[in-house]
Amino acid sequence: MKNILIIGSTGQLGSELTMLLRARYGSRNVVAGYIKGAEPTGELLESGPAEHVDITDAMQIAEAVKKYRIDTVYNMAALLSATAESKPQLAWHIGLGGLFNLLEVAREQHCAVFTPSSIGAFGDYTPKDRTPQDTVQRPQTMYGVTKVAGELLGDYYFKRFGVDTRSVRYPGLISHVAPPGGGTTDYAVEIYHSAAEGRVFKCPLLAGTFMDMMYMPDALSAAINLMEANPDSLVHRNSFNVTAMSVDPEALRKSILEYIPDFKMEYCVDPVRQAIADSWPNSLDDSCAKEEWGWLPEYGLQLTTQSMLRELESKMNQ
Ligand code: SER
Repeated sequence: MKNILIIGSTGQLGSELTMLLRARYGSRNVVAGYIKGAEPTGELLESGPAEHVDITDAMQIAEAVKKYRIDTVYNMAALLSATAESKPQLAWHIGLGGLFNLLEVAREQHCAVFTPSSIGAFGDYTPKDRTPQDTVQRPQTMYGVTKVAGELLGDYYFKRFGVDTRSVRYPGLISHVAPPGGGTTDYAVEIYHSAAEGRVFKCPLLAGTFMDMMYMPDALSAAINLMEANPDSLVHRNSFNVTAMSVDPEALRKSILEYIPDFKMEYCVDPVRQAIADSWPNSLDDSCAKEEWGWLPEYGLQLTTQSMLRELESKMNQ
């Protein structure tokens, strides 16, 4: 990777990934792609090049790739699961139409492509516990449909055209920087904000709803380490199971109580999010990622809680 484009650089993942890649590969070599209405600001804008790149516009991608001699694209544009359920046509247009545009540019201009998949690529018929790398994938959400189809399209472009496509199936991502939006796992971010601000947290999912989660530093190293991995060691490509912890709302509540003893949580279940969460795995088996490219998360639940509360409190005191 010498010249990198991040599509969706102002989102939850993209904003932190862009800064980390700039620190690693040099600020001038990492282009922040953005869409109208989500322009970069502050450090993200000032620290390196930025370009209007809407993934639904193939010409814009092609021009940016040519202009900056891009060899690697991180595709962080997507609607998260609950939003995708309310706008399924747009979710398809961005998630799959956009990916197709990008893969065509990558084929023509010889770029490697990282595209996140998700625990949402699994469905009701998938084994729920320690979900294997290779198993049944029959999601019933539009988010999941775009993720499975995206995985298949990525593998197709690799086998048919030799495009270096790679992907991980992200679990819920927890971060104190940019907020997520419209995801089923977002409650695991919001709970920390409520706790740090002394508010009662209204939990949209039932106790006992287990899903995999990951703290942002691990999510970023998953993307970068996979893209830096020796291709000869990759048996799989699109997409690797990765996880750092499997938690339910009660596990998060108890973990916060250790630091904020008067933290309060009430259940106020959102049926749309609950149905989506029920269709996803309780926990993933990520042994293929460990074996093939050395995946090793650093943050379990306790370290995540410690770091999230410390960061949110210090932001409030600024
Ligand atoms: N965080 C995503 C969501 O909840 C799952 O990958 O939609």
